[in-house]
Amino acid sequence: MQRQGKPRRETVRNLLSSTAPVERATVRGWVRTVRGHKDFAFVEINDGSSLAGLQVVADAGTEAFAAAKELSTGCAVEISGPLVESPGPGQDWEMKAEEVKVVGTCPETYPLQKKRHSDEYLRSVAHLRPRTNKYGAVFRIRSSLALAIHEFFAERGFLWIHTPILTPSDCEGAGELFCTGPRGGKEGEEFFGRPAYLTVSGQLALEMFALSLGDVYAFGPAFRAEESHTRRHAAEFWMVEPEMAFCDLVENMDLAERFVKALVRVAMEANSDDLSLFSRFVDKTLPRTLRTVAEQPFARVSYTEAVDILSSAKKKFDYPVEWGLDLKTEHERFLCEQHFKKPVIVHDFPLSIKPFYMRVNDDGKTAAAMDVLVPGVGEIIGGSQREERYDVLVSRMDELSIPREDYWWYLDSRTYGSVPHAGFGLGFERLLMLVTGVSNIRDVIPFPRTPGNIEF
Ligand code: 4AD
Repeated sequence: MQRQGKPRRETVRNLLSSTAPVERATVRGWVRTVRGHKDFAFVEINDGSSLAGLQVVADAGTEAFAAAKELSTGCAVEISGPLVESPGPGQDWEMKAEEVKVVGTCPETYPLQKKRHSDEYLRSVAHLRPRTNKYGAVFRIRSSLALAIHEFFAERGFLWIHTPILTPSDCEGAGELFCTGPRGGKEGEEFFGRPAYLTVSGQLALEMFALSLGDVYAFGPAFRAEESHTRRHAAEFWMVEPEMAFCDLVENMDLAERFVKALVRVAMEANSDDLSLFSRFVDKTLPRTLRTVAEQPFARVSYTEAVDILSSAKKKFDYPVEWGLDLKTEHERFLCEQHFKKPVIVHDFPLSIKPFYMRVNDDGKTAAAMDVLVPGVGEIIGGSQREERYDVLVSRMDELSIPREDYWWYLDSRTYGSVPHAGFGLGFERLLMLVTGVSNIRDVIPFPRTPGNIEF
């Protein structure tokens, strides 16, 4: 059952979970279907509180019957009457309509008809798709997991830090930045007196707080101007980023594993009704996948071992596998779906493919980095132990031509009481893809932003 406190008023959800008949209740929502018969009219109402709608029955000869027969799919109504045990199959309770009030009419041009619509079509009516069963379920789960993230960290004493959205720096050094500015960010006319961007990650700011307050996290939007037209990249997405002081890569991996498991368990318990829709209509293997993620220990392999596994695999990959090249989605998915058959944490990647802030390992060739890979999605988490040694950090920055003067404050943290610390970023939408089996990131975001797409 979905968690709920005391709703503002009666909802379909709490009426459906009634333990006794109710003398008179009122339901407010949108009409899904109307079926008129000689003796009865049946109206299904959904108000977004649950997957199932409430069946309302109006008896022939009543005023409610006459009003119910005039209703159309999509119109908004307020219906009152007693809640009684339903004699029909499919539901325990139904409402006997006594009063039917139309709050908002809906003409026949309503884009959501009773048939099943494709995801592509529903993206073109993204303003209405939360009224469908599937998207209602996606966004209830999204809300539930967002809350669970805060609970997970609050229970462990982490502080929630609100890192800035406008930033002067490119944390990941990948140059995938959205520039900002009231005048288009033209040189010399910048609002902030220097170029400013939408954040790609709150990490650098967050590190300053970990190095002051201990265990902290951020949870908010991140923006990447990647020209990738893949089903797992969005230009605007949400990231959860814990950062821990006095922490190494192993503790970081332990937290990442516990975190993913805990969130999957919450979805399985708190959103079981909604998840049943995805297991039936989206991905039949979902229950097994979720049980594996929740119950099995994740595999852990170094990048070097992962490259050996991939090189000796019988499968033909589209992209080359070679020490020094980054893993592609097809490689990530092979590792967790076919080789290990469970989530995998790959650690200690080549230094050359990782950002400047990652800690250099003793071999001088690899960084203390880790990625968590899950079935169906691939990478869901990227993280690392951070380079806490001032000299090593500046020589990495020099190598990558990152101007020291732009990061003077970041370098200060390595001068004044620097300590080993680590953290990671989990892509919230990728978690939702894992939990629901939805295969396109656009379908777990209220109004997705991808290259060429910002209609709403
Ligand atoms: O691996 P990434 O780039 O790591 C960072 O940004 C670190 N600074 C985080 C940290 O250590 N605090 O991104 C982290 C995660 C990825 O694993 C992925 O799940 C998600 O963010 N992600 C995206 N999700 C959707 N669309 C995109 N374009 C994404 N880019 C990254």
